[in-house]
Amino acid sequence: MPSPTPIAVLASGRGSNLAALIDARREGRLAADIVLVAGDKAAAPALRRAEAEGIATLALDPQGYPDRRSYDLALFERVAASGAALVVLAGFMRVLDAAALAPWAGRMINLHPSLLPKYRGLHTHRRVLEAGDAEHGASVHFVTPELDGGPLIAQVRMPVLAGDSAESLAARLQPLEHRLLVACVAALVTGCIALRADGVHADDRRLDAPLQLAVDGSLQSA
Ligand code: GAR
Repeated sequence: MPSPTPIAVLASGRGSNLAALIDARREGRLAADIVLVAGDKAAAPALRRAEAEGIATLALDPQGYPDRRSYDLALFERVAASGAALVVLAGFMRVLDAAALAPWAGRMINLHPSLLPKYRGLHTHRRVLEAGDAEHGASVHFVTPELDGGPLIAQVRMPVLAGDSAESLAARLQPLEHRLLVACVAALVTGCIALRADGVHADDRRLDAPLQLAVDGSLQSA
């Protein structure tokens, strides 16, 4: 059995997606070791979750840096020093500098709570309701300097129901996000998914559309 891939998780908040990755690893569903959990907020519950698991943590305060680039370069220097081969943005709520991202091209993914390319940025649940969409979901994509704009790997979809609020959408999407993220990280560390010059490849076939999370938790062609 190949040795687990070292990964770093960046998180600013609650850390429920981090917890999903930790659980998947513990239950033998994910061939990845989380070697670092880093964030910009020292008080983030995500960092407490990591500490409770004995995972190395880093809280780096942006206020200690003159600009975004110097902060991001310092952050990713520490991420590289952790030995991580893959970086997972799981609720990391900062726009990243292009120079800091460059060395991680094809090795950094982001989870976003919308069916990208719809609703990049913030307040996705509210915007879905305002637009009257019948469907909502979440996406995982490779990170590029364009905010929430990198090549899509996979999505999960769910219906918007009569009477839904931003809160009810968020609550219903959360467990689906967990499964989507775990499935994507699992596929990346086993090499089933990779970013190549011509786009995202799954099992050596270029994707024309993002994979879709099936009810059994597997990723299927659209
Ligand atoms: C998730 O819903 C994720 O999609 C979102 O932050 C939440 C993190 O939850 N990410 C973004 O909005 C990034 N643009 P968690 O802290 O419980 O894992």
